[in-house]
Amino acid sequence: MKIEGARVLVAGATGVLGRAVAAGLHERGARVVAAGRDAARLAEVAGALGTSGRHLDVVDVDSCGDAVRGAVEELGGLDLLVVATGAAGFGRATELDEAVAEELFAVNTLGPMALVRAAAPYLAEARDGEGTAAVLSAVLADLPTAGMADYSAAKAALATWLQVLRREERRSFRVLDVRPPHLDTGLETRALAGSAPRLPASMPHEQVISAILDAVGGDATEIVMDGKEMVLR
Ligand SMILES: NC(=O)c1ccc[n+]([C@@H]2O[C@H](COP(=O)([O-])OP(=O)(O)OC[C@H]3O[C@@H](n4cnc5c(N)ncnc54)[C@H](OP(=O)(O)O)[C@@H]3O)[C@@H](O)[C@H]2O)c1
Repeated sequence: MKIEGARVLVAGATGVLGRAVAAGLHERGARVVAAGRDAARLAEVAGALGTSGRHLDVVDVDSCGDAVRGAVEELGGLDLLVVATGAAGFGRATELDEAVAEELFAVNTLGPMALVRAAAPYLAEARDGEGTAAVLSAVLADLPTAGMADYSAAKAALATWLQVLRREERRSFRVLDVRPPHLDTGLETRALAGSAPRLPASMPHEQVISAILDAVGGDATEIVMDGKEMVLR
């Protein structure tokens, strides 16, 4: 899609990846509205983008709809939705607290799905028929990992949902599933529960940002790991 002039909502713009994607799109001439939960970081990010920040708690479906509609009102439509919200949680499958399991699925699966559902009618009407939903799942969708059963399962469920969405909406908008490996954003230090098992060396997050910007500006539908390489396809 053409990034210049694109009307964009970045959900999770208060996080490391969301903020960097929002900044990259803004630098390339997109009009970007930020949505996030942390009020202070949201105000900072929105100030840099020159748009109003939208409060978002993805566990609340109404909040997802409000954030999308607020962005559409401000921008006069929506060409690109980026979903960069997410939270990790660690613990053995048999031992994870039920409330943590529920929150992992609410934040990583149901929330992103609610955001895409709310945005779908607007993306279908996007400029030049180039509407795009770009959603961060994770390599864990392909490589579920011990000590992260629920987080892996939540991301796998999201990735599966995105696959079906892509088929169903192939004539309406593009679906880009971003499945990065472990990155240097510190996500694991903000986990909902437990501590991370031994993780592989982290990839610099700038590599993913650059891949996302390339993918958005082109026509890829996935960013995945092929061995140690991240590839667009
Ligand atoms: N870092 C990695 O190793 C890695 C690898 C693969 C995939 N990913 C995925 O990439 C995405 C971004 O992660 P990141 O590394 O940038 O981590 P991050 O800096 O911790 O960002 C996470 C974002 O999710 C938001 N969030 C969490 N719970 C929320 C809720 N209930 N409502 C609204 N927002 C909520 C946070 O909002 P507040 O800060 O405002 O609370 C923050 O904006 C996530 O989906 C993550 O699973 C990350």
